[in-house]
Amino acid sequence: MRNDKFLSPSASRTQEIGCEIGKSLRGGEIIFLSGILGAGKTVLVRGIAKSLGIRSKVPSPTFNIFRVYDCVLPKSKRKGKFYHFDCYRLKKYTELRNLGWEEILADSNAITVLEWPECISDRDVIKTPDKKIIAAGIKLENNKRVVNITVLKR
Ligand SMILES: Nc1ncnc2c1ncn2[C@@H]1O[C@H](COP(=O)(O)OP(=O)(O)OP(=O)(O)O)[C@@H](O)[C@H]1O
Ligand SMILES: [Mg+2]
Repeated sequence: MRNDKFLSPSASRTQEIGCEIGKSLRGGEIIFLSGILGAGKTVLVRGIAKSLGIRSKVPSPTFNIFRVYDCVLPKSKRKGKFYHFDCYRLKKYTELRNLGWEEILADSNAITVLEWPECISDRDVIKTPDKKIIAAGIKLENNKRVVNITVLKR
């Protein structure tokens, strides 16, 4: 995965873009996914999940904060875990840590996506050694969505 920009006119196209992103993952990536309410973050996550072989429904984890799925890592075909967080109701990193964040970070076969990372005010304290960090953002332009991917750390 490199820096990239996609224009999406529809939810199904956004899901396909998610699939494209997902196919390039090896395990150990953390994706910070920002965008306003209804931007299409969860739609994009469904595409990522699909490319990781997840066949079950991927509901928005707004009330559970996160959901975890068994997945297949696309590059190696090894088994892994896919974590989908919605940080909308979180305020501090300690809340994320209490959900088992450090154990998730320690798993090199885990792929993690966080919606609403900006809600964690002290997110700068989140230490992610050895992790590939990807910042993804969805913006609305007219009726379309623009998906931006920036690889922050390899
Ligand atoms: N180009 C598009 N890409 C993604 N979603 C789109 C697009 N056009 C319309 N939509 C619609 O916008 C909505 C996006 O909802 P989604 O739950 O993915 O947003 P979200 O960013 O996760 O919101 P939240 O912040 O509440 O979690 C869906 O109803 C989807 O059908
Ligand atoms: Mg969402």
